[in-house]
Amino acid sequence: MNQKGVYVVNVIKRYLVGNWKMNQTQEEIRAFFATFKNLVSGITTTNHETWIAPQFVHIPLVHSLFFPNGQVGAQNCSHKEKGAFTGDVSAKALKDIDAHFVIIGHSERRAIFKEDPLLLREKIQVALANKLKIIFCIGETLKERENGDALRIVGEQLNISLNGVASSSEIETEILLAYEPVWAIGTGRTATPEQAQEMHAYIRKLLQEQLKLNSALLPILYGGSVTPENIDALLQQPDINGALVGGASLKANDFAKLFASAAAVQQPHSGGKRINN
Ligand code: PGA
Repeated sequence: MNQKGVYVVNVIKRYLVGNWKMNQTQEEIRAFFATFKNLVSGITTTNHETWIAPQFVHIPLVHSLFFPNGQVGAQNCSHKEKGAFTGDVSAKALKDIDAHFVIIGHSERRAIFKEDPLLLREKIQVALANKLKIIFCIGETLKERENGDALRIVGEQLNISLNGVASSSEIETEILLAYEPVWAIGTGRTATPEQAQEMHAYIRKLLQEQLKLNSALLPILYGGSVTPENIDALLQQPDINGALVGGASLKANDFAKLFASAAAVQQPHSGGKRINN
């Protein structure tokens, strides 16, 4: 209870994050925001944040066009602080252009660019050192799920990349997790709300029990073919605190609908807890 005798409830914010991948021109970005802003202008929201990760070179443009509380970030960063790493972009350079966050461990980086959990661990360290928030992605392939290995694989990804990577409080406050089953990304095949909830609850438990983190307030986003049609049912799950969206985030109309859903959903989350009572 606070001084006025009112229960104080800690609630995890909801996050809507657009991952634009390797898409968009400057002209398309300007057109996107002209429509998007128009569509969301009347929507009030108190407990929801909207973030977008465009290509590196578009970060300043998106920064200048996004409304006051929109946050802009990157889809990747180098595992090294600086130096002879031709073609890489450092966390420091991202911070320097006011990036708010960086996505680390996206399955496309893991699969196409062969980024392994130890390299991702280095990226997390360098991003934290440069005061960037991190969206750390984890998720199993279809084969792993069909073999009954989904929980083990996700557990391993978390353990290797996060265990002891930083102080508990840093992990708890600077890192958001995104559960993205690889079989659901860009395929139109979403995990059911129940499948996603099962994994999110498992992740929260694992963070608590194995990594000794206070996971109650750590945001866990779902990603993989999220659309305006399926987002409400996903966000209603108690352990799903937001969505990481690829394809549907590129269309201003769809992203505005996702925004409206994220702003409206009253989540019966299990992560938040009463304090001071
Ligand atoms: P999708 O992508 O929404 O197009 O499936 C999600 C992601 O890759 O983060």
